[in-house]
Amino acid sequence: MSSNKMIEAKSISKHYERKIALSSLSFSINRGETVALIGPSGAGKTTLLNSIAGLLTLEHGDLLIDNMSITSYRKGTVFAKKVGVIRQQFDLIGPLAVIHNVLAGKLADWGFMKSLFSLLIPQEKAAAIQALERVGLPDKAYEITSTLSGGEQQRVAMARLMVQNPEIILADEPVASLDPARADDILAMLTNIVLERKQTMIASLHSVEYARKYFSRIIALKNGELFFDLPTENVTDELLADLYQLKERG
Ligand SMILES: Nc1ncnc2c1ncn2[C@@H]1O[C@H](COP(=O)(O)OP(=O)(O)OP(=O)(O)O)[C@@H](O)[C@H]1O
Ligand SMILES: [Mg+2]
Repeated sequence: MSSNKMIEAKSISKHYERKIALSSLSFSINRGETVALIGPSGAGKTTLLNSIAGLLTLEHGDLLIDNMSITSYRKGTVFAKKVGVIRQQFDLIGPLAVIHNVLAGKLADWGFMKSLFSLLIPQEKAAAIQALERVGLPDKAYEITSTLSGGEQQRVAMARLMVQNPEIILADEPVASLDPARADDILAMLTNIVLERKQTMIASLHSVEYARKYFSRIIALKNGELFFDLPTENVTDELLADLYQLKERG
């Protein structure tokens, strides 16, 4: 089969007690694709992203990351080079200077202690500063992270991701807490970086408008099932109305 597949879900399922969060989902995503994951609240978007991130154990089916079952990856360096995550809450360490958070992207390569002492290594410092420049924060390297605005912290999280440089980027509602202008900036920047680096990205979004503007393919989930999986240009307003209607389908 094609070695171009970065993510392949084969009939994956996940339950929480009696609640079905993912119900026998299958799809595959090729290297370089940018996919928006949409669907009503509770559809299973976070559960799916967390499964691909290796944070949840699946009950049924298999998930292949770069043609190897996720269960065969050892946690740590190898997996962190494959898959990186960016979240709404950013996961930054507030009391640390910005540059330390950016260099935490190297955790996978170095381990935590070396990351903390990494500023002694000029070359790495330069890489972190360069990433901060790329996300438009050249002067914030030595500020305390928690003093930055939400939009700025999201940029720090992107700089950290640039330093980590994984092949796959998973973003769970990356702009949900930002105002529309900031959200637009962040998504434009994120999708540009991903295209430049030929990375593969799946981002869950509540905004269909952003999904259409920045992503080439849209996967819609509803009640843990695949509702549609289409190139962006084939997603009609009728399909979206069906997806988001409050009544249960069927
Ligand atoms: N830890 C948990 N324990 C029990 N049920 C859970 C848990 N996490 C999620 N669920 C349930 O699984 C289903 C899918 O949740 P999930 O968080 O994946 O949805 P989502 O599409 O990300 O929703 P949202 O748009 O609100 O973020 C929901 O019905 C939710 O209530
Ligand atoms: Mg969610």
